[in-house]
Order: sequence, then structure tokens, then C-alpha cells
Amino acid sequence: MPTDVARRVFREVHTDLPREAPGSRDCTARALTSVVLPDEPSVLDIGCGPGTQTLDLARLLPGARITALDAQERFVAVTTQRLQAAGLADRVVTEVGDMRRLHFTDQSFDLLWCEGAIYIMGVREALAAWRDLLKPGGWIGFTEAVWLTDSPPEELYRWWHEAYPKMGGVEDCLESVRGSGFEVVEHFVLPEAAWWSDYYEPMERRLVVLREHYRSDPLALAAIENHQQEVDYYRRWSAHYGYLFVVARREQG
Ligand SMILES: C[S@@+](CC[C@H](N)C(=O)[O-])C[C@H]1O[C@@H](n2cnc3c(N)ncnc32)[C@H](O)[C@@H]1O
Repeated sequence: MPTDVARRVFREVHTDLPREAPGSRDCTARALTSVVLPDEPSVLDIGCGPGTQTLDLARLLPGARITALDAQERFVAVTTQRLQAAGLADRVVTEVGDMRRLHFTDQSFDLLWCEGAIYIMGVREALAAWRDLLKPGGWIGFTEAVWLTDSPPEELYRWWHEAYPKMGGVEDCLESVRGSGFEVVEHFVLPEAAWWSDYYEPMERRLVVLREHYRSDPLALAAIENHQQEVDYYRRWSAHYGYLFVVARREQG
């Protein structure tokens, strides 16, 4: 159970980062190349965080009408502000909402998007809950943490198993998609750069500042080192795990 201090540090680490998970515009664009959409598709971006992929979607799909949703008001506010500053707010609605209880009527969307957030429900649970929101033949794109080898180092496995016990391999993830009434159309592992530029590099810069700020608070410093450990694990053992981008199409019927 995280302590209040750990929660506070978590929140401070995860403030003003461009992204809240690995990802990049190139990866979003690459995933979209497999998707066939009408000229003015309706799109739902689930767990939008600070909205980087929302802005990318709006730019890459110029005819789209997008709803971007997140459980945290502070992220929705940032996304809204960034969309306004970019002149994209007329095509994107933002809202605070819970991915477990989406209020949209069935067959509302041509495309569901979920970068770095499907783990909150788990792939199978999320696809079962969201499938009917798609029009027949509609699409989903999401990213999910996966093991890339069968033999991760014990220390790494224990850390991730505690953080995300449902994490499986690439084939486990794709099987979950196929078993949920979707055809997998494309999948690729995000390049390592997509973990660093918008995510771990800005996070490490934040950790330096927080270490100084909390220099006489051992509990906060311990929480900060837990974040540093996550980054260091990736630096050392990135061959063993990664983020998988999956693009899939709802089967008819
Ligand atoms: C790892 S972040 C990814 C955010 C963003 N897509 C990105 O890649 O930067 C996961 C996001 O899911 C949001 N979230 C957590 N639980 C949620 C829920 N039940 N419903 C909607 N969003 C949720 C968090 O607030 C956070 O912004």
C-alpha cells in the first residue's frame, strides 16, 4: 500500500511530463497507417493523460472529431489547454471520465485509441467493455507493456510483477485481442527512443529537482529512488521488456 508520501512524490514526478507513458508521434503515425477510416471519423482517446497523443491524432486525422477522456481532472485541463493553444479545440472534446464506465452509446466510434492506459483494466477486460462502442468493422489502437524475452532477470521480474502482475508476452497480448472479437492488423514494439525522449528523460530531470527539494526527508527520498529504479531498470534491461503497439479491427457480427 503506497504511503501518503509515496503518493505525493508520485504525483509530483508525474506532473508536467509531455507523456505519462512511452510513446512518440512517429509510433502513433505508424500505427495509424494500418487503419482505414472514413473522411470524418469519430475517435475516442481513452486515458489521454496530458494529451500528447491526442494532439497527434488531431493533426494526423484532420477530418476527425475526437473525444479525449481521462479520470484525472488535472490531465484533462492540461489537454484542453494544449488543444486550445494549438488551435485544435474545435475538433476535440475533452472530458473527465472513467474508462470502466464509459457513457457513450453503442457504435459511436470508428476508432478507439488508448496509449499506455489499457493496463488499468487489462486488455481482455477493456476490449470486452469497449468493443460495442465501435461501429462494425471499427478499429482500436493501443499500447501495452510486454515481456520480450522468456527469461527476464529475477530482480526485474519481481519489480514488474509487483507493479503489473498481468504483464505477459507479445503473443499473450495478441491472443487476448483475438479472443475478444478483434482481428490483429498490425503490431510492433516501440523503439527505445520512445521511452526516453518524452518520458524517462524529462522524468529523470524532475527527479534531480525533487531530490534537492526533499533532501532532508528520507521517506520522500526513498520514494524518489523507487522512480529512479524504474528508469535504471529500463536503461539496463530494455532487451527484456517493452511496449507493444497493437492495431486491431472489430470483427463483424
Ligand atoms: C500511463 S498514463 C498514459 C497517459 C497518456 N495516454 C500518455 O501516453 O501520455 C495512464 C492514464 O490513464 C488515466 N487513468 C487512470 N485510471 C483511469 C480510469 N479509470 N479512467 C480513465 N482514465 C484513467 C490516468 O489518469 C493517466 O492519465
